Amino acid sequence: MSISLIGKSIGVSATLLLNETAAIMKAKGEPLIHLGCGEPQSKTPIDAITNLTGILNSGVIRYTPVDGTIEMKQAIIRYMEEYYDRKVEPENVIASSGVKQAIMVALQTILDPQDEVIFPAPYWVSYTEMVKLCGAIPVPVHPEDGTFHPRMQDILQNVTSYTKAIILNTPNNPTGVMYSEQFISDVVQFCEKEGLYLIMDDIYHRLLFDGKKRVNCFKYTKELNENSKLIVVNGVSKQYAMTGFRIGWAVANKKLIAVMSNIQGHQTAGPAVLLQKAAIGAITGVQSGVESLRLTLENNRNVMLDRLRAFEGVKATKPDGAFYVFVDFSVYDKDSSRLSKLLLDKVRVLTMPGFEFGLDGYLRLSTCGTIKDIIEGIERIKWALDPNSPNELFIGERKLVRDWL
Ligand SMILES: Cc1ncc(COP(=O)(O)O)c(C=O)c1O
Repeated sequence: MSISLIGKSIGVSATLLLNETAAIMKAKGEPLIHLGCGEPQSKTPIDAITNLTGILNSGVIRYTPVDGTIEMKQAIIRYMEEYYDRKVEPENVIASSGVKQAIMVALQTILDPQDEVIFPAPYWVSYTEMVKLCGAIPVPVHPEDGTFHPRMQDILQNVTSYTKAIILNTPNNPTGVMYSEQFISDVVQFCEKEGLYLIMDDIYHRLLFDGKKRVNCFKYTKELNENSKLIVVNGVSKQYAMTGFRIGWAVANKKLIAVMSNIQGHQTAGPAVLLQKAAIGAITGVQSGVESLRLTLENNRNVMLDRLRAFEGVKATKPDGAFYVFVDFSVYDKDSSRLSKLLLDKVRVLTMPGFEFGLDGYLRLSTCGTIKDIIEGIERIKWALDPNSPNELFIGERKLVRDWL
């Protein structure tokens, strides 16, 4: 069978695949603890549901404009004013089917084959594949000092005449680390000076801990005009726990948005009207759910970090936000895919291998679950890996005997 070169180069989404594995195991009644999950467990905001049922009951469900309904754009414009202190026009905005699509059409708009796109590692799994889908070349940048905080010199060392764009995601998936204001302002100004595109993936920007303040990239732009190469993406998936609704957006200069809309028009057309209505409800409705999610996640992070201290030689960088702790388990196994598989097979704890995020030896542990899941999940991992723990463990009625150390 003949498959395209691009098709052959694209790997499966490891996170989605493991989520499917989790769903199958749960359905079989396995006592699975899902520490791999990338979605908050809180309920959809009531304003989203009210809006959704309203349009559903009308029985009039039609195509939408390719770049989003007027009402959706108004809600995004309001969001930009509130959280970015930036007044944009409807032509600066496109609503897409998730932030995933917003990034994908942005990349298709700006990249030619062989262009290079720089982003700090570890990185969200899809950046590499999305860049490859455009025939371009992903350039992950590992901070030279071994931290999760890239410095400008790390970026500069990787810039070539082929560099077309930089992507920053802060707070970051998978580390939860928030990049410093200095770094963000340096990158914004560097991109502006060099004429590079900058995609700011702000999907976790309201989920910050320890009193940390959001960094607004627009504060550092001089070019607030049609020459601006700044593209900001955001959406409802994480902050409103609306992953299933698939609504994200991009804000950029009008010409870019027009081309993005042309591309989206031939892919999916406009996002479903039902989902846009629900997203509008969430964005314009009562916001207390976001704060209560943030508080829950901060508490969960603290509990997880506390429990991880029980491990010898395991290192965890304290996340500033989002809902992941990226943990160095290399003392146990430098091959994170093998380690993740062992934990799933032996103690039914699902984790995401760091390899998929560009850093082997680490596991991404999610704090989205309940405190009980976090505590029990870490206990099971410890039992599986620590030769000093008792030889037997009970999961419900099931007795496990450790025979692999
Ligand atoms: C950093 C980052 N960007 C984008 C996305 C995609 O979000 P959406 O569900 O809106 O497509 C995710 C989802 O995991 C993410 O972690």
